[in-house]
Amino acid sequence: MKRKIIIDCDPGIDDSLAIMLALSHPDIEVVGITIVEGNCPVEMGFENAKKVLKFMNRLDVPIYVGAHQPLKREYINALDTHGSDGLGESFLDSVAGYEQDMDALSFYSHILRQEQCSVIAIGPLTNIAQLIQQDKEAYDRIDTLISMGGCYKSHGNCSPVAEYNYWCDPDAAQIVYNAGKEVHMVGLDVTRQIVLTPELLENMKQRNAYVGDFVEKITKFYFKFHLEWEHLVGCVINDPLAVAYFIDPSICSGFSSYVQIETQSISIGQSIVDDHSFYRKPSNAYVLTQVDVDKFFDLFFTCLLENIHECEKN
Ligand code: BDR
Ligand code: CA
Repeated sequence: MKRKIIIDCDPGIDDSLAIMLALSHPDIEVVGITIVEGNCPVEMGFENAKKVLKFMNRLDVPIYVGAHQPLKREYINALDTHGSDGLGESFLDSVAGYEQDMDALSFYSHILRQEQCSVIAIGPLTNIAQLIQQDKEAYDRIDTLISMGGCYKSHGNCSPVAEYNYWCDPDAAQIVYNAGKEVHMVGLDVTRQIVLTPELLENMKQRNAYVGDFVEKITKFYFKFHLEWEHLVGCVINDPLAVAYFIDPSICSGFSSYVQIETQSISIGQSIVDDHSFYRKPSNAYVLTQVDVDKFFDLFFTCLLENIHECEKN
């Protein structure tokens, strides 16, 4: 039986790769995609999710629009990283005629009472925090909760200590970590090791031009950004690791700990991992620290390059 997931995302270049991975794995069923403010405004994220679904010939997957802004903090997007269209300035054709019958929160309330589902959250946690505030019973029904966000020993990407998803909405992240369900924290410690290099991209294009060309279109801007700001030849693709870890947990390992998110001051958005149990609080997270990079790319390439074909194009 396929394991059912909801992807909560802000697509976003690496979010799009995560959606592609989830849709191309035979054991996973994506029952819905919910959009949150983050890399780009929520309406742009919605448009981008449709573009990815169109490429995958999977416009049957429902998309639901969620929060437009963080719970308390002023909204700051990441279009500097993801391009003015949120998809690496690929300026793909927009997809018209897609009806939505409910918003993200109504969808969660509904689906979590019908199906056993896990949630893979790869954007700021605003939607999930609002679900906790408005329908805790539905939230409690989530099977596994995976969140791409935070950092443990690794430095931040928005400040010396904060990663974007938690920095964008720290109050939401703090609510989620306090809500009584273990959060699998896929932070920068592990995602920073997932680097798509020009050689790997070239290899993708040779093995499957349909997929490789699409990935090149949406990552070109990301490559430039990484070279300019991080002096890295290649781009860090954070979000697909959260999906890969769900598919095969042996790709990553870590430890259980109490985690708190800083909501104020110079360290806003920092994920404080109490690895020495100073606070004497029960663990609320499984913090990933190790990743088998080869195993990740084996899975990623097998799914994208062998399971997605041009003949599926609309
Ligand atoms: C996270 O922030 C976003 O820019 C990416 O999509 C990823 O979810 C990495 O810090
Ligand atoms: Ca994201």
